[in-house]
Amino acid sequence: MEIEQLLAERADLADAELQALLGGIKPPELAMAVAYAIASKGKRIRSALVTLSSEAVGGTAYDASFAAASIELIHSSSLVLDDVIDKSEKRRGSDTVHKKWGTDMALLTVQVLAALSLKLASRDPRLIRAIADSLLYMGEGEAMELVDYARDKNTYIDLAFRKTGSLFGSAAEVGSLVGGGDEKQTESLLKFGSHIGIAFQIRDDILDCISSENDLGKPVKKDLFMGRPSIVVIDALNSGISLDDMMKCNNGQLMHLVSDSIDYAEETAREELRNAMAHIEKIDDSPAREKLITLGEYIISRSK
Ligand code: IPE
Ligand code: IPE
Ligand code: MG
Ligand code: MG
Repeated sequence: MEIEQLLAERADLADAELQALLGGIKPPELAMAVAYAIASKGKRIRSALVTLSSEAVGGTAYDASFAAASIELIHSSSLVLDDVIDKSEKRRGSDTVHKKWGTDMALLTVQVLAALSLKLASRDPRLIRAIADSLLYMGEGEAMELVDYARDKNTYIDLAFRKTGSLFGSAAEVGSLVGGGDEKQTESLLKFGSHIGIAFQIRDDILDCISSENDLGKPVKKDLFMGRPSIVVIDALNSGISLDDMMKCNNGQLMHLVSDSIDYAEETAREELRNAMAHIEKIDDSPAREKLITLGEYIISRSK
């Protein structure tokens, strides 16, 4: 299916909400950094997850657009922070906020983006708790990377859930809440979102090894050089390949050296997708549910 078209349509809804928030931020330097972070558009997968989850329980995409924008803002906030921590200079094909305005202004941008997210979410106070959950989890996940927490599959999945799965889970959860989903539907969608989020992170780890900065719009082989616990690197290390040997490789050589670990990561992503599907099966069939399934499949095969 035309997944890009679907993501673009859903993005337009959230964009209208985002633009309305930007007026009035002072000083202009901060306003510029915040506007810059919002204007650089990503794939908007989490927005699509919010609006489709709303529709899957009988709500509309339109009524969920403020929730989609709120989730997208938390996502942007986490990326600006992550780029500071990872010392990354490119995001979405452009210079990162800290590269342009320095670390201090980047950290303030993180705070303002999170505040704007909460402002939007406060239209429905149930969303505040969902967002607080993933903000806390994301902090834990990012910290786990710094202390070398993940050294095997179980600890990696725990980390990937916190760092990435949790926000996908909240996206589906808030979509269901604003769409009028009942407790069971909301729980099923939350679980669906969390598992496709873990699968998404695994695909991100694979792309870090096999793609290029040009194609991804962000630096590659970052996991290797920053010592980040990617599932590919963890499995390669556990199979006896040394970090030194991996670091010596150019892109083509790395793909060859860790090809078994890439296969293993792909299988783990498929496993997470199967876990996700077991939860979406509890939701009544509808065009939105079909699109959620397509979104899950896209996540594990995407090249961007
Ligand atoms: C990047 O997420 C951060 C990770 C969880 C790996 P996306 O790949 O969804 O980022 P954008 O929004 O499309 O730039
Ligand atoms: C993305 O993490 C940030 C969060 C999920 C909070 P990564 O560091 O793994 O992703 P990229 O590669 O920078 O997008
Ligand atoms: Mg990063
Ligand atoms: Mg990171």
